[in-house]
Amino acid sequence: MKTLLTTSTVAFALVASTGAYWNSRPYQLTLRRETNTSSCDIVSFGETQLHKSLLPATSGQIIRQHNIVPSTGLLGDEEIIRFLSYNTNELWLRAQFECSNDLSFVGQGGLNGFETQVSFGDQGVLHGILLDVPVPPLEVVSLLQSGPSDNRIDLAFFSDGYTMRERDKFLDDTMRLVTDLSTNQTFASVRPLLNFWAVFSPSRESGVGVNGKAKRTPFGLYRDGTELRGLYANNSDVALMACASLGNKCNYAILLGNDPLYGGLGGEYTTTTASLANGALVLRHEIGHSIIDVGEEYDGGYAYFGVNAVHNLSDVTWTQWLEHKEDDANMFRAERSVMPMQAYPWTLLNTTQPWTISFLSSGNYARHLVKFSLSGLPDRDDLIVLFDKVDLRWAPRKDIGADRWHYDVYEDTSLSAGVHEISFVLKNGALEGSAQLCSVEVLEYGTEAEFNATLGHYSMFPTFSIDNDTSYRPTNDDCLMRSVTKPNFCKVCLEGLWLSLLKRIDLVDNFKIACGRDRRRIFGVDLVPLAEFREPLSPARKATASPGRRTGKSFRSLRT
Ligand SMILES: *[C@@H]1O[C@H](CO)[C@@H](O)[C@H](O)[C@H]1NC(C)=O
Ligand SMILES: *[C@@H]1O[C@H](CO)[C@@H](O)[C@H](O)[C@H]1NC(C)=O
Ligand SMILES: *[C@@H]1O[C@H](CO)[C@@H](O)[C@H](O)[C@H]1NC(C)=O
Ligand SMILES: *[C@@H]1O[C@H](CO)[C@@H](O)[C@H](O)[C@H]1NC(C)=O
Ligand SMILES: *[C@@H]1O[C@H](CO)[C@@H](O)[C@H](O)[C@H]1NC(C)=O
Ligand SMILES: *[C@@H]1O[C@H](CO)[C@@H](O)[C@H](O)[C@H]1NC(C)=O
Ligand SMILES: *[C@@H]1O[C@H](CO)[C@@H](O)[C@H](O)[C@H]1NC(C)=O
Repeated sequence: MKTLLTTSTVAFALVASTGAYWNSRPYQLTLRRETNTSSCDIVSFGETQLHKSLLPATSGQIIRQHNIVPSTGLLGDEEIIRFLSYNTNELWLRAQFECSNDLSFVGQGGLNGFETQVSFGDQGVLHGILLDVPVPPLEVVSLLQSGPSDNRIDLAFFSDGYTMRERDKFLDDTMRLVTDLSTNQTFASVRPLLNFWAVFSPSRESGVGVNGKAKRTPFGLYRDGTELRGLYANNSDVALMACASLGNKCNYAILLGNDPLYGGLGGEYTTTTASLANGALVLRHEIGHSIIDVGEEYDGGYAYFGVNAVHNLSDVTWTQWLEHKEDDANMFRAERSVMPMQAYPWTLLNTTQPWTISFLSSGNYARHLVKFSLSGLPDRDDLIVLFDKVDLRWAPRKDIGADRWHYDVYEDTSLSAGVHEISFVLKNGALEGSAQLCSVEVLEYGTEAEFNATLGHYSMFPTFSIDNDTSYRPTNDDCLMRSVTKPNFCKVCLEGLWLSLLKRIDLVDNFKIACGRDRRRIFGVDLVPLAEFREPLSPARKATASPGRRTGKSFRSLRT
């Protein structure tokens, strides 16, 4: 991005920019659709920031985006469909086409006395928010601003399980996450394109729900049981509407649960916790999915797509990052590895019986890696992990306490052909009910010539899905989309991040014409501070409450 602001680039940006000012901004229609019945509700409708792939209104072009609403089901019971276009008639036709129910009442306005009406005519289009759920009063606090929300991507953190007295804790927790995400790592390079907001709404009860029962909080975040895994929002529509009510201040919503341990979920909005070890891990990974349109890179998933995945070695999309020379016969060779075993048991351990799994090795690989993740096991004496009856001498990450963490045991040796066995033996009976085995996996690798695990090496590394289908990723272990403990994206994902963000952002924030001396005109532009206009990296500003930042809209208050 170093040569971004050469004269010709500025000129080009100006042309794009003036176009955007003279045409009005595009419209965005967001629908929430039930997956089974295709019945829709309108979440919001209104003007939105530019999208550089959109053609003018006369083209009738529509951009369609799809997401799932996080839910207890694997694939979601509800979807979000978002249409962008300059042509409201086409938008309207398309919405009717994709929904099984009749949405024509919307055009008539006056929806049960709800505060905003929507007209789909060419004139008088208002910002409409139509899903009829009460949104609690929201106090919007600025955490880190890089520019006007109309021309930035805005991430909004919503509080859940923070009482009125815990407001400062919420701001501290949010600031810690934002600092982690945007200082030195992950999103640091694109920070001039992002805004971060903390949105406080007090909860009647502190913390997140357990055993499938939400607490009295705005979004009702809860866990299924007591185990550390998914964090679901019982009041999912409130989350959708709270974000919609902020307009361009909420391109992506993050529901932050007031809980010290791992938990989260991704989709239309992201849920995460204030966990010191895991909060930022969950967040980076899920926001990666949200912004970049990348699939997973870890094994055992089901969604491998986007800039970081190919399913056929002749379709590699990241050849620009490969170091081999053009005539290298090995250029499109996959790195040699196999996954003889993987499981996501998410099981609570007990002292009566170890959790054991066996698997077959072909004996054809030079090296192997055992990966597992655990929670609720604070001390090394709490658990023994046996590999073929040999103690792997597991020790917890320092200060992990009851939180979840990931462990890799790498051996520079070949596994013999035949059956092998891994056992997790709980030693501390007091931990029954909390000690949990989340995931376990074995990978085998070829020799260094066959599998180049060097950090920074770009190639085609096999990834194995839940059904053991093979796709390929660009690096072995350099990307947080594969290893959530890594703080950074690989270059392929980072490139995808830039391209996604720049699609929605004009490099010119503003321009002015003024009169100068001698009847000259002075033409001034405010550029997005990239390249040589970057501000030196400084720690994120401390959050301060700004009373003027309360949203202009008044919503019915939440009755719980
Ligand atoms: C949707 O359909 C699937 C499969 O037919 C069914 O298992 C599920 O319960 C349905 N979900 C809802 C919310 O009706
Ligand atoms: C960022 O890097 C600087 C210099 O290496 C270091 O002093 C600072 O603590 C780092 N900040 C974070 C949040 O990691
Ligand atoms: C979700 O909220 C509804 C309505 O308040 C309530 O009846 C239900 O029990 C809640 N579900 C959970 C999982 O807490
Ligand atoms: C990969 O793509 C090539 C060229 O398009 C094709 O011949 C081959 O059958 C594909 N392989 C698989 C496994 O789909
Ligand atoms: C996946 O497939 C490979 C190759 O067919 C096989 O060697 C391996 O054992 C399989 N792994 C699992 C977990 O089924
Ligand atoms: C103990 O754990 C084993 C292995 O997960 C399981 O099969 C067994 O049902 C558990 N026993 C109890 C009493 O929970
Ligand atoms: C592995 O990759 C690194 C970095 O690309 C390269 O320097 C090294 O030569 C490679 N090793 C082998 C054995 O090919």
